[in-house]
Amino acid sequence: MHDHQISTNFKVFESSDELSSTDKDLLQKAIKARDNAYAPYSDFRVGASVLMETNEVFLGNNQENAAYPSGICAERVAIWSAMASLPDGKIKKIFISARSGKTIVDRPVAPCGACRQAIAEYETKQLSNIEIFFTGEIGRIVKANSIKDLLPWMFDNSRLS
Ligand code: THU
Repeated sequence: MHDHQISTNFKVFESSDELSSTDKDLLQKAIKARDNAYAPYSDFRVGASVLMETNEVFLGNNQENAAYPSGICAERVAIWSAMASLPDGKIKKIFISARSGKTIVDRPVAPCGACRQAIAEYETKQLSNIEIFFTGEIGRIVKANSIKDLLPWMFDNSRLS
């Protein structure tokens, strides 16, 4: 028996002032999408922007449903919208921002497990990393260079063969 450890890497930006102007703009787009979320049940709004290799940008926000499990997260709306339009496209970056009607979200909100799995699928498919930036309503922004930093031991299609 041996003990093992996994360590992952990420960067923390104190505020959007530390981002490049392109990244700041992408974060602004995610914030705008966030504020258009349909979240009457949780009052928790999430927005995502996806930058493609073509420089096209796709947006998503959470869409809830009276039948709760029928709702969907912002990240998957944005990613699947991008892949629906550009089936062979490659995702360069995804930006995620969250806010609540109940409290100020001042800590970065990382994508849920199902969204990490969806990001992993496309990172595997496109054979190149996807940068993931996530934040709350105010405060720090976290950047991971790859889904592998957020989803160690990820399940991918190599396990199916
Ligand atoms: N949500 C997202 O849109 N993305 C995440 O990564 C976490 C959660 C949404 C789903 C639901 O509409 C609300 O936030 C509360 O969970």
